[in-house]
Amino acid sequence: MTAKAKPAGITSLQQEGRVFKPSKEFSKGAHIKSLAHYKKLYSESVKSPDKFWAKQAANELVWFKPWKTVCQWKEPVAKWFVGGQLNVSHNCLDRWLNTPHANKAALIWEGEPEAPGKAGEVRTLTYKQLHREVCLFANVLKRNGIKRGDRVMIYLPMLAEAAVAMLACTRIGAVHSVVFGGFSAQSVADRIFDCQAKLVITADGGFRRGSVVPLKRNVDEALTLKDSQGDRLAKTIEKVIVLRRAGNEVAIEEGRDVWWHQEMECVDAQCVAEKMDSEAPLFILYTSGSTGKPKGILHTTGGYLLGAKMTSKYVFDLRDEDVYWCTADVGWVTGHSYVVYGPLANGATSLIYEGAPNFPEPDRFWRIVEKYGVTILYTAPTAIRAFMKWGVEWPKKHDLRSLRLLGSVGEPINPEAWLWYHENIGGKRCPIVDTWWQTETGGIMITPLPGATPTKPGSATLPFFGIVPEVVDEAGKPVPRNTGGKLIVRKPWPFMLRGLWGDPQRYKEVYWSEVKGCYFTGDGCRQDKDGYFWIVGRIDDVLNVAGHRIGTAEVESAIVSNPKVAEAAVVGRPDDLKGQALVAFVILKTGVKPEPALREEIRQQVAKEIGPVAKPDDIRFVEALPKTRSGKIMRRLLKQIAAGVEIKGDTTTLEDINVLAKLSQAEE
Ligand code: WTA
Repeated sequence: MTAKAKPAGITSLQQEGRVFKPSKEFSKGAHIKSLAHYKKLYSESVKSPDKFWAKQAANELVWFKPWKTVCQWKEPVAKWFVGGQLNVSHNCLDRWLNTPHANKAALIWEGEPEAPGKAGEVRTLTYKQLHREVCLFANVLKRNGIKRGDRVMIYLPMLAEAAVAMLACTRIGAVHSVVFGGFSAQSVADRIFDCQAKLVITADGGFRRGSVVPLKRNVDEALTLKDSQGDRLAKTIEKVIVLRRAGNEVAIEEGRDVWWHQEMECVDAQCVAEKMDSEAPLFILYTSGSTGKPKGILHTTGGYLLGAKMTSKYVFDLRDEDVYWCTADVGWVTGHSYVVYGPLANGATSLIYEGAPNFPEPDRFWRIVEKYGVTILYTAPTAIRAFMKWGVEWPKKHDLRSLRLLGSVGEPINPEAWLWYHENIGGKRCPIVDTWWQTETGGIMITPLPGATPTKPGSATLPFFGIVPEVVDEAGKPVPRNTGGKLIVRKPWPFMLRGLWGDPQRYKEVYWSEVKGCYFTGDGCRQDKDGYFWIVGRIDDVLNVAGHRIGTAEVESAIVSNPKVAEAAVVGRPDDLKGQALVAFVILKTGVKPEPALREEIRQQVAKEIGPVAKPDDIRFVEALPKTRSGKIMRRLLKQIAAGVEIKGDTTTLEDINVLAKLSQAEE
């Protein structure tokens, strides 16, 4: 079976019927040892949610002050553990200090660059050392004017310092907003404007596949960008803290920019963890929606941390001796919940690798697994498909027997990739947890528990404790088994988003208006006869490109900002490697010639407006777009044209049927 045998997507998912049961050996040592055990706990969790969550919150977290009310639900606003106080960095660090964990590795970090024959730079921080770094840096933040409730932008490469910066914010009650290093200056400026951040933490540069990404330069540019009224977007920024990483030259603006290492020398290592209300904002993470503007997803303290901790413990079946590696960047929610907060709240060892999986060669991941004895690996289907393409000889060169559990996240995993992962990485002995969740859900929602749930390649299987997902039709009614529909969640859960930063109306409209009283996920799904969930993917105008969430409207607005462009429509088409690729249909202004160089110009424009991650794969110059009589672009038809498949379904609402024929002929 090869990656090319079938395209990724629902057709191949539906064909896979095999079931993989957890091995007796794995189940014996697991937190949840059987399906019956899972079912009993699950049923308790949904029958008496307050009782269940109260017990978990008391057992799992350290509270400075107990809560009065477990859940206060006034649709669409949820409050959890109301009246309780705690601190996230205290739960991730201080609580381990007087235990045998104190001298255990909290983080193992490996840098990307390697001299020939020489391994990359390595840094290990024990819980004690990490605690010290976080206290120092928290004092640096204070020294630079940051107080409880202030927003701090983090724009850093995958370094241990990214975790230090995040934890330091939580220690003093500041709200962090991490921006992925692959986003542009414009994206940084827009996000600063939206959350009115006071300070940016960045690095001179970051290494990526051997070259240097000029992060500080992007921040400098972001701080000059203006809105349409000529107002500076980032005028709330008072300070920039710069970490020396890549050694590239940077400009330092006196009075505004300070060096991380110099500041660390000016502070002491005592810093009390602030007592934060359970509902105090913890972080804002921007993610794409179906409009041109990313949404600031807000998570709060108690409920979020409980979710990150519990899901890490049960889904990855964490044990003390594990070396756990989640390959996600901290710029995405997976990096928040499963590189930093979840593992550290469990006292686990979390590995961070700075760079690309194929640098300098396609076996870098497997070398890391062998070198550190990684036991749990959590990665994305797009990476797995890339490994399949690069060939099995690369993992075969390494001893991967330390692995005992594999995870997948970010997009539907096609059974071919699942089986390849199982056989070639997991040596057929490691269970695979295919975990479905979203930035909004804060933590894993639908997933196997590895000692309990029989898995079916391509299915995320069953809901986590306390989560009540359902597949419904257009009218919001539950659909029969094996029928496709919209995925919703019936009841609030502790780690759900609390809102969109500064936009309660949009929060209500996007998530709580589709089906009365329920959270709408934006995903299509079906449930099979065993109740297993099979996620199809987004049904709104959000695409999943190489595991990155990208809004078509954002890309469209970036394209039309080019003065030569009149109109654009962006859709996804299936892609063997990335899951989905971006196809842009572009109408040029009258008189502009559709020259090939213009395609590159438009791609660069998108890189500048959003970031290189959003560059379209295909740009097709067309004369018209298929529209309904009311002027709505018929994306369904564009998707079929982009995929090169025969056009099916109703075209009677199409305003000009000739458009279709022209589009199909449009030169690639
Ligand atoms: C998709 C990433 C199928 C889904 C954690 C969701 C998945 C979006 C899976 C959220 C999975 C994530 N199977 N699809 N296991 N995991 N998705 O916010 O479409 O970056 O809505 O969060 O990714 O992407 P986000």
